Amino acid sequence: MKQKTKSRKILVIHGPNLSLLGKREPHIYGRVTLNQINRALRKLAKEKGFKLKIAQSNYEGKIVDLIAKAKKDKFCALLINPAAYTHTSVAIRDAISASGIPTVEVHLSNIYTREDFRQRSLISPVAKGQICGFGLKSYLLGLEAIEDILNKS
Ligand code: DQA
Repeated sequence: MKQKTKSRKILVIHGPNLSLLGKREPHIYGRVTLNQINRALRKLAKEKGFKLKIAQSNYEGKIVDLIAKAKKDKFCALLINPAAYTHTSVAIRDAISASGIPTVEVHLSNIYTREDFRQRSLISPVAKGQICGFGLKSYLLGLEAIEDILNKS
């Protein structure tokens, strides 16, 4: 019987205000732009044989819609920086939980050294894990983590 090849498609979602990276509070987020992050992700994904779909949205509902159809669209994993929605969005958390898609949550900054309201993530309990505090590298480590998760599944 012909073996079904596993999907190598990963959905990457950047949440609100991340399009402003490079100019936005550089003392916190550094000077790296979203384009530079995406380029670095695409390069690493290519080396690992993954295909990426990358989306950025400022809208909670749009992010929920993307996650809701991720399974149908044959994505095998989700790499997400939910940005401010990390701390507020039950809707994004529920979408991840309902999708059953292995998810890695990333943040540029270390949210646990910042304001109290940032120190709680509604997303972490439904993610495989969270990586924060390493700037652009958080995303690359997130992709490495996804590779490990997929290799073990
Ligand atoms: C962020 C941290 C969030 O608290 C913040 O709202 C962001 C970016 C990060 O990547 O460090 O927009 O997710």
